[in-house]
Amino acid sequence: MKGLLLDNYAAVSEYAATLVEEQVRGNAQSVLGLATGATPLGLYENICNSFEERGVSYKDVRTINLDEYLGLERTHPESYYTFMNEKLFKHIDLAIENAYIPDGKPSSVGEECVRYDKILDCIGPINLQILGIGTNGHIGFNEPGTNSNSTTHIVELTPSTRKSNAHFFQSFEEIPTHAITMGIKSILKSEKIILLASGESKAEAVKTLLSKQVTERFPASFLWNHDNVTLIVDRDAYQLVELERQ
Ligand code: F6R
Repeated sequence: MKGLLLDNYAAVSEYAATLVEEQVRGNAQSVLGLATGATPLGLYENICNSFEERGVSYKDVRTINLDEYLGLERTHPESYYTFMNEKLFKHIDLAIENAYIPDGKPSSVGEECVRYDKILDCIGPINLQILGIGTNGHIGFNEPGTNSNSTTHIVELTPSTRKSNAHFFQSFEEIPTHAITMGIKSILKSEKIILLASGESKAEAVKTLLSKQVTERFPASFLWNHDNVTLIVDRDAYQLVELERQ
């Protein structure tokens, strides 16, 4: 795992955007693996702002999102489909039919998992996967205890994950209890992975990750089994590692 320590969230977002743009310039038909949540917002903002300025086209790019809340229609204001559309897709020239996100309200959840794995097999491998990290070490919605061999599956969200996502919902009860997520095995099939971590709330998770102990109890630690991961972290998220080294 390579690491890059930058001053703040703005620098992390800007740098990550240059990596995405470099990928798309190098291969106009790139497959990008995308995340939602607060972390990649700055990255998406940078991509949108520079879309016209830097002349990068996404028209032949395909995107595969990590996860979706179970029980939310695409059109729900807090669905990850809505999130991606609002924060990124509608601002660039990506063809919406080339954007894949699990269906949060499928007629059969089992069939939806199989369908999503088939999509990954058909259009993968993902050339560049963007990841955020949960305070409990989850990646995608692979919560602690997830097997490294996992493919797309249904997860019960931990109370801490639901609490972390509470700011997006009006009340705690409204936060879905389950999600559908790409598995660890599928994430690790990506050619390159960028893991973004910003802010004090991620400091403990970054410290645990950098202890290099690979364990199901901390799913992000499986990234140590991949040979092309770059951790881009800001000072606030790195502070506990710095303290330990003093
Ligand atoms: C979302 C996802 C999650 C988030 C993680 C961090 O698609 O895959 O793993 O990356 O929960 O969330 P934020 O960025 O909101 O701190």
